[in-house]
Amino acid sequence: MNAQLLKDKFKALYGSEGSVYTSPGRINLIGEHTDYNGGFVLPGAIDKAMYCVIKPNGTPDRIKAYAMDLSEMDEFGLDDIPIKHWGKYIFGVCHEMMKRGATIKGFDCVFAGDVPLGAGMSSSAALESCFGFALNDMYNLGFDRFELAKIGQATEHNYVGVKCGIMDQFASCFGKNGSLIKLDCRSLDYEYIPFNPKGYRLVLLNTCVAHELASSAYNKRRESCENAASYIRKYHPEVELLRDATMDMLKEVVNEVSAEDFMRAEFVIEEIARMGETCEALTRDDFETVGKKMYECHIGLSRKYEVSCEELDFLNDVARQCGVTGSRMMGGGFGGCTINLVKSELHDDFVKRATEDYERKFRIKPKVYDVVISDGARKLE
Ligand code: GLA
Repeated sequence: MNAQLLKDKFKALYGSEGSVYTSPGRINLIGEHTDYNGGFVLPGAIDKAMYCVIKPNGTPDRIKAYAMDLSEMDEFGLDDIPIKHWGKYIFGVCHEMMKRGATIKGFDCVFAGDVPLGAGMSSSAALESCFGFALNDMYNLGFDRFELAKIGQATEHNYVGVKCGIMDQFASCFGKNGSLIKLDCRSLDYEYIPFNPKGYRLVLLNTCVAHELASSAYNKRRESCENAASYIRKYHPEVELLRDATMDMLKEVVNEVSAEDFMRAEFVIEEIARMGETCEALTRDDFETVGKKMYECHIGLSRKYEVSCEELDFLNDVARQCGVTGSRMMGGGFGGCTINLVKSELHDDFVKRATEDYERKFRIKPKVYDVVISDGARKLE
């Protein structure tokens, strides 16, 4: 991403210079759909990000925003409703900050990014964190990174309508070059895990499809989990979220919860355990076990959580056939990417075969991204 282009555009539109901020997308090695169940996740920020150039414009509350990738301008006050759908993210971040006592005044901005949309790499969290970080810095609001992540998440909940967990915004705010983040999504305790798998590479294959209204399907999964937890709580009052539940506890309510909710909860309990086993394997540099857990995760997401799709399953099968160490769908699901842990010497053959086979079958060329684990939200000098 060339920040100079953004600065030039800002100057052309508003006649002055603004400050430049950025916040990245993320990958997640394992721990999927566990965040809103209070479980653990293992994300890392990547070298694909959203960027904004921004400056106060002296008005009490007029916001002028230009989306450079779409060549679209929107202008709104803090009491209006933005016209463009992307305006909701900026508007939401402002309002979530105001709810927390901040004074936000009018500003001009230009933004763009290279996080692919709908690819499960959290372009929306990157946008929220970029504006959250920028406004916080520009107006000296004093929010810490934890609060900025929560502001982004609340924007999804209250202005976008996705009842997401905290993983994406946390990774975007806290990312660190070369490290994954082991995050306890309940306490928000976190630990950086240096990730440099010698002899392996991490590669994403983007199906370039997005099926179903992913946001409503996502919210439904969350409801199922909360439902199952509430049945378990009747017998085990200490169970606040599925993170606190065991398989035995879930089995006790098998005749009370729906078969569907049971299956969803089963996946989550297994996935939280898998995440722990994966971290343990990582301490031993045991990437064979890490890879095995990734495949197990995919099967669970596909068959029990039912958030995969034909295209993702296809790419996962090709990975297995090519002897790739670990592979699974990544993110919310219904399209987007698979994440693949592949021995360096197999990388090129795998990518070639996967892209050719995929294109032959679906008549779409998948996109390939080699993952570089990078820093989180920051100001660019
Ligand atoms: C989306 C959400 C996250 C998380 C993942 C699934 O990316 O925004 O909070 O739930 O799906 O792990």
